[in-house]
Amino acid sequence: MPQSADEHSTIDAVGSVDRAGNGIVGRERERGILRAQLRSALDGVGCLVLVSGEAGIGKTTLIDDLAGAAAARGCLVLWGHAYDLSVTPAYGPWVELLRRYPAGVERLPEPPAFVEDARSATAAGSSEALFFAAAAFFDDVARVQPLLLILEDLHWADQGSRDFLRFLARQLADRRILVAATYRSDELHRRHPLYTLLPVLVRESGVERLDVQRLDSDGSRALIASRYAIGGDDAARLERYIQDHAEGNPLFALELLRSLAEGGVLRLSGDTWSLGDTDRVRLPTLLLQVIETRLDRLGDETLSLLRVAAIIGQEVPLDLWQQVTGASDDALVKAIERGQASHILEEAASGTAIRFQHALIREALYESVISLRRRVWHRKVAETLAALPAPVPDIVAHHFQQAGDVRAVSWLLEAARRARMVYATTTATDRLETALGLDEQQGGASGLRGWLLAGLAGLGEMFARFDERRRMLDEARDIAVRANDATLLGLVEWYRAFIETHFDGSTAEALGSARDRIQRLPSGERARLYGFLYGIVGTPIGVDSVDMTCEIIVFQGQSGQYREALAAIERVYAESPILS
Ligand SMILES: Nc1ncnc2c1ncn2[C@@H]1O[C@H](COP(=O)(O)OP(=O)(O)OP(=O)(O)O)[C@@H](O)[C@H]1O
Ligand SMILES: [Mg+2]
Repeated sequence: MPQSADEHSTIDAVGSVDRAGNGIVGRERERGILRAQLRSALDGVGCLVLVSGEAGIGKTTLIDDLAGAAAARGCLVLWGHAYDLSVTPAYGPWVELLRRYPAGVERLPEPPAFVEDARSATAAGSSEALFFAAAAFFDDVARVQPLLLILEDLHWADQGSRDFLRFLARQLADRRILVAATYRSDELHRRHPLYTLLPVLVRESGVERLDVQRLDSDGSRALIASRYAIGGDDAARLERYIQDHAEGNPLFALELLRSLAEGGVLRLSGDTWSLGDTDRVRLPTLLLQVIETRLDRLGDETLSLLRVAAIIGQEVPLDLWQQVTGASDDALVKAIERGQASHILEEAASGTAIRFQHALIREALYESVISLRRRVWHRKVAETLAALPAPVPDIVAHHFQQAGDVRAVSWLLEAARRARMVYATTTATDRLETALGLDEQQGGASGLRGWLLAGLAGLGEMFARFDERRRMLDEARDIAVRANDATLLGLVEWYRAFIETHFDGSTAEALGSARDRIQRLPSGERARLYGFLYGIVGTPIGVDSVDMTCEIIVFQGQSGQYREALAAIERVYAESPILS
């Protein structure tokens, strides 16, 4: 989490005090707009502000500045991030944001149980119900304390997170809630889902949009002056050099300045800086390359440790980093110190992890590893994560996938199951499709193709794509028969019966016989299948026939077979020791 400039003054690589925090320069207009939105939210008229702009232009800096102002006015500020070169589970940024909600503070309501426990999310019954519950929670909090909710880097967020943002945005106008979301405009191509969502948000919720532009020459001058005390002719030359090369992008400007300082062209003498001959400086023209030249100065040992860190993620838990690299405490501490001094790393809020100062720094490190080696490290990270007590399947799968390791398939299947538990259908579909592709690449080595196909067919929208889903189920059935897998066969028949009954509106007989087949499975297998169907391991109600019968009853009700539905309800009551 970014910190304020005051907390953050550090000694930089060449020994001077470099105000490396977010001491913001310029941006009066943008800050004015954000302050006005904040005041309005404090008065009970919240809204969604979308802050866009190219990479490194200063979106986070602006939001961090807003966060400081909001906290000073008594707001509770919560941050959630989406990440590059990584995946998060469904609703990742929102879950992160909710997990940062302070526990046990007097008068503030308790967070909803589904933040920590996916089962209670499943119990909500639908994504709409989940969204209502989450929005109601934010409203409850805001009645006690106004809220600033920050979603960083929305262009990397999952569909479920965008859906909830859209849902929440519609309700802000009479609440003390300001939602601020950032995204990189240079990442939004026409087919990007956020690209199509933006006009919808504007239409539905009257969103405030703020497109952050490059700094003008005054802005660049102020940025330089805020970091490097330099005067006279040198100052003018430095400004020209920076403006010519960085063209008003603050991250680019700062990286160039640090490059010049580390290369000795920008030198500290006494209290002020002086500038050598910039004509003999050969710095690359692209930001990522400028970052690379700085990274090269770190020395081999530190650099290779940082490369592994970049493969782990934007935030790097220290124990994981050490387990994967096998590095000594000393070597890690040295790498961290060097990384911090060069403004590459910062300590994460938890104190047990470090994070990259900027996503582009991680990207430069990541890209500098040759792909063969990257795969080796990804596999190592995946294996280490998989051995932890409660691994996140999406993340383990991501690392196995990047390693081209077929073990990704079963983790993707598990990730899909969990996404389904929280009604994140798009994420579940994504995971299953990725798994199918990977399994195909590996010549079917996972042995899970039948389950993946059945899963996809079962996820399809209730009344859509019948033919495609039938084809998937046909193939899954063939696989089940060939492999003599009664459990998979039970699942396939259940889904098929569901599709067929929906399709031609016939009675629920096919569903009944599929249910009976499933009930004849050995109990362990039945539990496995239920886990797959309902996203819950084991049986949800105790009498395992009840759930499937209930689904049949719901179907009968929906299709107007009321007499049959009522009769079935009577039977459930009569047969269930819990309900009767
Ligand atoms: N107005 C500003 N004043 C001072 N420093 C700034 C300003 N804007 C940006 N910076 C500095 O530039 C760097 C990049 O800014 P920031 O991280 O806010 O960019 P961003 O737009 O969020 O980038 P990304 O799209 O990669 O997330 C940071 O180190 C920040 O401190
Ligand atoms: Mg940012």
